[in-house]
Amino acid sequence: MVDISTEFAGLKLKNPVMTAAGPTSRDGMTLLNAAAGGVGGLVAKTVSIKPADVPRPNMAALKEGRVGSRRGILNAELWSEIPVEQWLEREYAIALSSGLPLIASVGYTPEEVSQLGPKLEKAGVHAIEFSTHYVGGHTEIAKALKEVVEIPIFAKISPKVDVAEVAKSLEPHVDGIVGINTYGPCLRIDIETGKPMLGSSDGFGWMSGVSLKPIALRCVADIARAVNVPVIGVGGVASGADVIEFLMVGASAVEVCTASILEGHTVYGRIAGETAEWLKNHGYDSLEDIKGVALRHMDGSATLTPPPTVDMEKCTLCGLCPKSCVYGAITVDKKKDLFEIDKDLCEACGMCISVCPYHALSAN
Ligand SMILES: Cc1cc2nc3c(=O)[nH]c(=O)nc-3n(C[C@H](O)[C@H](O)[C@H](O)COP(=O)(O)O)c2cc1C
Repeated sequence: MVDISTEFAGLKLKNPVMTAAGPTSRDGMTLLNAAAGGVGGLVAKTVSIKPADVPRPNMAALKEGRVGSRRGILNAELWSEIPVEQWLEREYAIALSSGLPLIASVGYTPEEVSQLGPKLEKAGVHAIEFSTHYVGGHTEIAKALKEVVEIPIFAKISPKVDVAEVAKSLEPHVDGIVGINTYGPCLRIDIETGKPMLGSSDGFGWMSGVSLKPIALRCVADIARAVNVPVIGVGGVASGADVIEFLMVGASAVEVCTASILEGHTVYGRIAGETAEWLKNHGYDSLEDIKGVALRHMDGSATLTPPPTVDMEKCTLCGLCPKSCVYGAITVDKKKDLFEIDKDLCEACGMCISVCPYHALSAN
């Protein structure tokens, strides 16, 4: 039996998939839904002193043409529109009734977090994540919050900063680091109307989802190499394979926002199940077996001698790799049951290895 439980900063999770601050953690009921959907831990929408005045529209899918919305979204949502008093009296209690670890998210200035921190702690949340999305000033916020609460605190970092530097300065003051928040500002135009798709003052929004994942992975790797506190990965997680990738660069757990917006609350259980399945199929017993394994290969030593090795047991002759071989080195003919790589034409770029859905190609 594969063990996908994880523990960090004293929080024990049955699986490493958590909600992230966003519309699918916007109140107690959505958090309870996430619990029913198989999530391992809860992170609530960010609260601040005053409820947010959110522009409308505030979400737009990053789809091209009629399909493809799975690429991600742009959003112009802010923090919670629910008054913090309602969170303290009602919403956290509803979420806590799930029995899962609950992390509150708070913003934004040192004064605001030190005013709200003790109230959140009193409401029974198990930890606090603070967001520095709009304000920066990470260390001052961390110090202010740490001074007023006993429960663990996590800093959530934006990809717009030097994450390793910021993580190092935060390390003495926090119990963990969450990377990353959305990237931006970004823009999309509805070409039928000629208007920006979002209702923010300039139409700009922040990118999340699958398109954000490579940025998030790089940031998590940078943070994990810079500090010894636990790191929680967030950005584009939509499958068990994504969880594995984040764990391999040192994450202890992940948060999921966009995939839950696009797919609904059962996404968490699906992703957790796929994570267990991947570990089982690859002969691992627990998340610890793979945690951080990629970090020791990030030393420029990866090489590919042409041509890549092909496993004909796995190859289905689907024809995807010759389409993306810009050097014209691959020939596939399903009728003739033929797969050939011309070693003289192959430039060892590696593209075919990454496009193969069946993992039939590998570097040698
Ligand atoms: C609509 C929307 C609202 C969000 N609201 C918050 C928020 O209130 N506080 C916060 O720290 N992050 C917020 N985020 C950022 C997410 O928590 C997460 O860091 C980011 O979307 C990347 O993860 P994902 O690719 O799984 O969405 C929001 C994201 C979206 C898409």
